[in-house]
Amino acid sequence: MVEFEAMSGDQLDSALLLSKLETAVLGREMRVYDSVSSTQDEARQWVTQGAPHGALILAEEQTSGRGRLGRLWHSPKGKGVWMSIVLKSDTPFLYPPQLTLLSAVALCRAVRILTGLDVGIKWPNDLLIGEKKVSGILLESVETKAKETVIVAGIGISVNLLLNDYPESLKLKATSLKIESGKTIDRQELIVLFLKQFEDLFELYLREGFSPILTLWEAHSLTLNREVSLRTPKGILTGLAVRLDDTGALILRASDGNEQKVFSGDIIF
Ligand code: BTN
Repeated sequence: MVEFEAMSGDQLDSALLLSKLETAVLGREMRVYDSVSSTQDEARQWVTQGAPHGALILAEEQTSGRGRLGRLWHSPKGKGVWMSIVLKSDTPFLYPPQLTLLSAVALCRAVRILTGLDVGIKWPNDLLIGEKKVSGILLESVETKAKETVIVAGIGISVNLLLNDYPESLKLKATSLKIESGKTIDRQELIVLFLKQFEDLFELYLREGFSPILTLWEAHSLTLNREVSLRTPKGILTGLAVRLDDTGALILRASDGNEQKVFSGDIIF
């Protein structure tokens, strides 16, 4: 484990981060900003200029951070980890949702190692502590001029926010690692740990496919084997969340025994 005592203040510092990284590729090229509209936009722009696999974009603050389904992502200055990672592969990514699940597992592991908090994954990609959301993941694809599809994985972790840092609309639904642990968390230590977990899982995924990732996801899942209601583009669906299929879709079993596949949606417990 890396020793972080020497970390200066809580400002994100690319030189310091680089010196602490435990990865071979992820984060080795990085851009750190004070304030951006969204790290996803910075990443997309970098991709058009030839960003390499593993390029990392971090910002202290996002003024228009975005979440899934067109939502805003609250990203106050200096309080969280707001980052995007550029993912490329020689073989095309056939099922990008699998990478969302991989990201969620990496994040869960990093948070558990660093804080010991009991964090779990709500399908497809929300990290929850208790019933409250602490982190979210947004995958976007960018097509380059060379017709190569690049994935930009956007990860938001509410690290050191206090209750007053949230707008009223989020106070009952969201939480932070600091609120839950009672401790100020070193954001850079979390970034280093997460990138290492992500890189290890990504290598496993390229080597052995989605199956081992799925097994790890299931171990952290808060969704499987529960009766759930899902808001989907086709309306509200209710049933038992039985398993994920090998594309990452959720299989829901209705009371009449019929099973259906859900590719995207929001679980309303
Ligand atoms: C969600 O749960 O809806 C996904 C939230 C993703 C937020 C992150 S923060 C870094 C990156 N930049 C963005 O604008 N969004 C993602």
